[in-house]
Amino acid sequence: MAESEGSAIVGGSGRPGGSAQPAVPDGAAGSDFVVVANRLPVDMQKTADGIEWRRSPGGLVTALEPILRSGQGAWVGWPGVADADVEPFEDDGLRLVPVPLSAEEVENYYEGFSNATLWPLYHDVIVRPIYHRHWWNAYVEVNRRFAEKAAQVAAPGATVWIQDYQLQLVPKMLRKLRKDLTIGFFLHIPLPPVELFMQLPWRSEIVEGLLGADLVGFHLPGGAQNFLILAKRLGGYTVSKSAITRSKPGIVQVGFRFVHVGAFPISIDSGSMDEVSRSRSIRERAKQIRKELGNPRKILLGIDRLDYTKGIDVRLAAFQELLEEGELDPADTVMLQVATPSRERVESYRVLRGEIEGRIGRINGDFGEIGRPAVHYIHRPIPRDELIAFFLAADVMVVTPLRDGMNLVAKEYVACRSDLGGALVLSEFTGAAAELRQAYLCNPHDLNSVKDALVRAVRQDREFGRRTMRAMRRQVLTHDVDLWARSFLSALARSRGQGTEAHLTAQPADPSLPAGIEHAAVTELVEYVDEPATVGPGSEAGER
Ligand code: ADP
Ligand code: F6P
Repeated sequence: MAESEGSAIVGGSGRPGGSAQPAVPDGAAGSDFVVVANRLPVDMQKTADGIEWRRSPGGLVTALEPILRSGQGAWVGWPGVADADVEPFEDDGLRLVPVPLSAEEVENYYEGFSNATLWPLYHDVIVRPIYHRHWWNAYVEVNRRFAEKAAQVAAPGATVWIQDYQLQLVPKMLRKLRKDLTIGFFLHIPLPPVELFMQLPWRSEIVEGLLGADLVGFHLPGGAQNFLILAKRLGGYTVSKSAITRSKPGIVQVGFRFVHVGAFPISIDSGSMDEVSRSRSIRERAKQIRKELGNPRKILLGIDRLDYTKGIDVRLAAFQELLEEGELDPADTVMLQVATPSRERVESYRVLRGEIEGRIGRINGDFGEIGRPAVHYIHRPIPRDELIAFFLAADVMVVTPLRDGMNLVAKEYVACRSDLGGALVLSEFTGAAAELRQAYLCNPHDLNSVKDALVRAVRQDREFGRRTMRAMRRQVLTHDVDLWARSFLSALARSRGQGTEAHLTAQPADPSLPAGIEHAAVTELVEYVDEPATVGPGSEAGER
């Protein structure tokens, strides 16, 4: 099925289609590079004294902020509270362009469709996704607003990079408003197996929305494979048969356009974390943290948003059983769990918080002493330097998501351990597990597997630990967020304006990228053949 270039954005039904408002490109003040994300990198907080801006939660901001701040660009996003009508402003060289959301839109678009429909569906239906038509209508409306704002902010011929599952309709909407733009899209969470995605009543609209981009990026090849299958099955498009590897993106032919599809594993600003973690003050703080925790022999650490995908309950259950069985001794082993408040008005998150805090209470009731709980629990955001000191203080970092697109915390821990100390317990169901193979990998759906990984990490031989940490550090320090962004953006630049035979031959390599990171175009366009479904973690399920 070809894309209908003439149709406009939003119809009365709330589905894409109908009459569009013409966007007015603001050439004079326009930016050549625009990031569009659900949230701005800073969150507005209404305090007694007025307004305060704080760093926004989550991995997307961690990854993108250093890139945007080091260059000239604009960031279009929601300021994080309802009904905040804020003018665009400059923040440390970055142009921030707020998109206001009403309280009703926050409820229907953000808490509803984004976080109670798409989030659980894309994370392997760990909780049951809820499908409401009025949530979908709000999602369409809000996506249209983001597209219009991006169209106003982008200079002629600009590059616009749209982020994540909250904005999957924006690529198509924006293309209809501004055909001159180069449009990239990156999904920060997994794209689920085809058979799960097919539950979504608006599955075709989402796929069509994404196909408005010139390049659609996923963390892992499995996500890209899933998308190619969906484009063929739901849109009837011709897609390339090529395997999705770092060096070979797939291609979907949409009318006269060629949409590139590839895998770009996200990372962190590892160099700067490494540097900060080496500072004397952070090292002193790490020692002090150990002391404040009672100088136990082993400190286990968890740092997550309080989200049911993160497997916080799983690691607590494993820790509890190990204490009960006497495998770990509460007199010399403590766990520190930091959980950032997240999406607190969504029912499943409220339930989860109650469960986690209840379990921590039970563990401490059974195993804690006065002044010496078995689990220390912090439920609030923590300053970056303090987080880094936590990483340095911890003997075992416990990362046990049931499903996670990447998980930057795992990479942050590794980047901070220049002393080659510490051990990483890592769920196989994270994107990070594809890169950090030397971690103590575990299956979070199997409590014995988590317990086993915890015990092995706690008892790790020092020399063995140093060797594995060194290997993981090599990976994280050479594959940082700058490389991620450069590889995506150079693939995006090459994907644009080559809707002819040029696509059928390999493209020249970008000399600024290390060997093996290049994204050359595929060599032929042939009918895509669906692969048989197989199950396996770390694949974003495309190769399942
Ligand atoms: P997600 O994007 O799902 O939240 P990631 O692990 O990819 O998960 O990224 C989380 C980011 O948020 C990391 O950079 C991590 O250091 C940061 N973070 C997590 N918890 C806290 C906290 N309590 N305070 C401050 N930053 C946090
Ligand atoms: O990557 C998943 C994601 O939704 C990001 O978009 C965001 O950085 C993070 O999780 C935090 O979520 P929220 O913006 O809903 O607080």
